[in-house]
Amino acid sequence: MPTKVLFVCLGNICRSPLAEALFKKHVDENGLNDEFIIDSCGTSNYHIGDPPDRRSYANAYQNGVVIEHAGRQLTYDDLLNFDYILAMDYSNLADIQQLSKDDPAEGEIMLMREFDPDLASPQDVPDPYYGGDQGFQHVFEILDRSTSSLLDRIRRD
Ligand code: 4NP
Repeated sequence: MPTKVLFVCLGNICRSPLAEALFKKHVDENGLNDEFIIDSCGTSNYHIGDPPDRRSYANAYQNGVVIEHAGRQLTYDDLLNFDYILAMDYSNLADIQQLSKDDPAEGEIMLMREFDPDLASPQDVPDPYYGGDQGFQHVFEILDRSTSSLLDRIRRD
């Protein structure tokens, strides 16, 4: 059975589709494509069906990564179907926990930056939506190293 990994942010157009693309890159580089199902979604309904934010797409492209995703909203079924659910920030984490408060999730719900090797204790992946271009590069670097160390952790499980 493949391991199912879901990345969650607010809009599902900036951070979580990039996390999805970078985790897929690490999985591919390790020859593990058959062992994973990888997806992303948003806690909000703001961008259902939308492509990734063009700034996020452009920044990833400059770094050699193509983001392919259409926005969708988190559902309770996701909490049953996925083994690992990664929230981009504390607000997303609270929203996911709220959705699972009556019927607990099957999957393990965690903060993305629990896996950031540069941090001693987790912080938010900052939301680049309202900021400038340098915010997207900062988020790219955070998510590149954090998704790599997430893969290491999952392979040890
Ligand atoms: P994301 O960023 O959660 O990283 O996709 C956002 C995208 C859109 C909005 C907020 C955050 N919005 O309010 O539309």
